Amino acid sequence: MTRRVLIAGNWKMNMLRAEGEALASALAKDFAVGAGADMLVCPPATLIAPVAAVLNGGAISVGGQDCHMNESGAHTGDVAAAMIKDLGGSHVIVGHSERRADHGESDATVKAKAEAALAAGLVPIVCVGETEAERDAGKAEAVVEAQIRGSLPAGATETGVVIAYEPVWAIGTGRTPTIDDIAAMHAHMRKVAGSMLGSAGALLLLYGGSVKPGNAAEILALEDVDGALVGGASLKAEDFLAIAAAA
Ligand code: G3H
Repeated sequence: MTRRVLIAGNWKMNMLRAEGEALASALAKDFAVGAGADMLVCPPATLIAPVAAVLNGGAISVGGQDCHMNESGAHTGDVAAAMIKDLGGSHVIVGHSERRADHGESDATVKAKAEAALAAGLVPIVCVGETEAERDAGKAEAVVEAQIRGSLPAGATETGVVIAYEPVWAIGTGRTPTIDDIAAMHAHMRKVAGSMLGSAGALLLLYGGSVKPGNAAEILALEDVDGALVGGASLKAEDFLAIAAAA
């Protein structure tokens, strides 16, 4: 089954408005509809509206980095999925390891957030990944499988959800698993997701963790890798465009 590659940028807690608008503008100038990949940027919540205005419904989509599990209500500081949708968002990242670590998000929380995203008409990008200690103990596949089983939203379809494999120890470190380890993990993830969704031939599986222009081609060439979730290298237009061009 042909799957369209998705290159997603997670800007994390970076950039003020002028910088975000300049980055979006630089990307929009050089990324065209019909390129070999789809492109998505996920700025901080404060920048979704200005970035969406710059991108103006063109070739690059915009999304959020997190959403609340509830539709609305007394949740000071939180953002509802419908608010992201309202600003023009198409996707939302849920369960990033930084949220799991900094905010104690469990698989059940991530699942509820992903369900809220689906209900609002967003595609959740559900993040999973093992720690270094878990990999060293030979538990990486079991940990990721448990996260997928616990975090995938009820009612998901293979085209309505994306899963991103991000080994915690590879995020922002310049280290990546071996290419064989990435391939094996993604094959396992497709098998696990397929057993839950009925089939997973059309499901997008992204790899994230120190993806750079120099390693993107090799990673993106893997059969079960359908794109990348990029942190640091998504903050420079030149690097992010080079990663997309490598797809
Ligand atoms: O969401 C993105 C990941 O955490 C990867 O970040 O590319 O800076 O390693 P990184």
